Amino acid sequence: EKGNHRHFMAKEIHEQPEVIGHTLARYVDFAAETTRLPADLPFDWRDLKRVVISACGTAYLSGLVAKYWFERFARLPVDIDIASEFRYREMPLDADGLSIVISQSGETADTLAALRYCKAQGQTVAAIVNVPESTIARESDVIFPTLAGPEIGVASTKAFTCQLTVLAALAIAAGRARGTLSAEDERALVHGLSEVPRLAAEALRLEPQIEGLAKILAKAPDALYLGRGTSYPLALEGALKLKEISYIHAEGYAAGELKHGPIALIDETMPVIVIAPYDRIFEKTVSNMQEVAARGGRIILFTDARGADEAGEAAEVTIVLPDMPAAVTPIVYAIPIQLLAYHTAVFIGTDVDQPRNLAKSVTVE
Ligand code: M6R
Repeated sequence: EKGNHRHFMAKEIHEQPEVIGHTLARYVDFAAETTRLPADLPFDWRDLKRVVISACGTAYLSGLVAKYWFERFARLPVDIDIASEFRYREMPLDADGLSIVISQSGETADTLAALRYCKAQGQTVAAIVNVPESTIARESDVIFPTLAGPEIGVASTKAFTCQLTVLAALAIAAGRARGTLSAEDERALVHGLSEVPRLAAEALRLEPQIEGLAKILAKAPDALYLGRGTSYPLALEGALKLKEISYIHAEGYAAGELKHGPIALIDETMPVIVIAPYDRIFEKTVSNMQEVAARGGRIILFTDARGADEAGEAAEVTIVLPDMPAAVTPIVYAIPIQLLAYHTAVFIGTDVDQPRNLAKSVTVE
């Protein structure tokens, strides 16, 4: 049931500190600050030359974040694709490689077909699923469950952040096993992860401010989301969430791609949502923001105190998140992005939990 909330989506957004905590407890040892995966995995991280990930929609976007993590922490190249393309592309796969499929429902037809293709090619298939009795879970060699609990709202929220939590733990475990992370690196990363439930709760406290932005967005015919690094998949996720529940046309772009086309769209009617925690490439994103501001675009910036300081006057509105380690920003920044889509849709009056034309589980192609 919805409890005190108006919609399942609101309830599920608010459950995130708790369900991320449950999921984490399954994959990390908080006291030792190490990851903790089953000892009998059907693959060895040290033998892998690459990892192949396929999934659909929001689950695909969690995989896209994980690509950055696997490549950085474990120096393990990741090939990732949406399952509907992957399944027909007939990508050559080495026997004994690892494929990861990601699915909340565990019943998505294209993701299941991708899994079967990988198995037929001799890959070991690991599934990150929220429904442990699902078809995808049953057909995989190993499952890494997300402990998000049932997700009813069609828009995926808590499943996404729990997928990210599991993937972060896997990437850290892979890095440790492959010797690309020291024991100290692992401790620092796991420590950062263990802070996520608290950081997520702090992010939820931004809700009144974000609700105030809904009226700006609700009037806009289109919106653009920009980010770099792991904030790039988050920009795609922000745009997907806004489209599916508010029916406002939105696009997510890597900030560096702006001048390769989309900057032509910028005028005073175009809100540009920039996701940019302060990091080593923050300056690059600021210069993209200045390009948008110079053309009259209205910028809503999600950053931290340092980023707000460095960004100067470019943004019309700045939402300041708490400071946190770079590795966990995609998990925590997902929350205000979800709230923005949610409040915009509520303001417009669409059917948030059951948007038109969509089904929770896409079991046909
Ligand atoms: O159940 P799955 O995770 O396999 O579903 C994949 C997508 O259909 C799903 O994430 C969809 O994109 C959501 N409605 C997005 O909010």
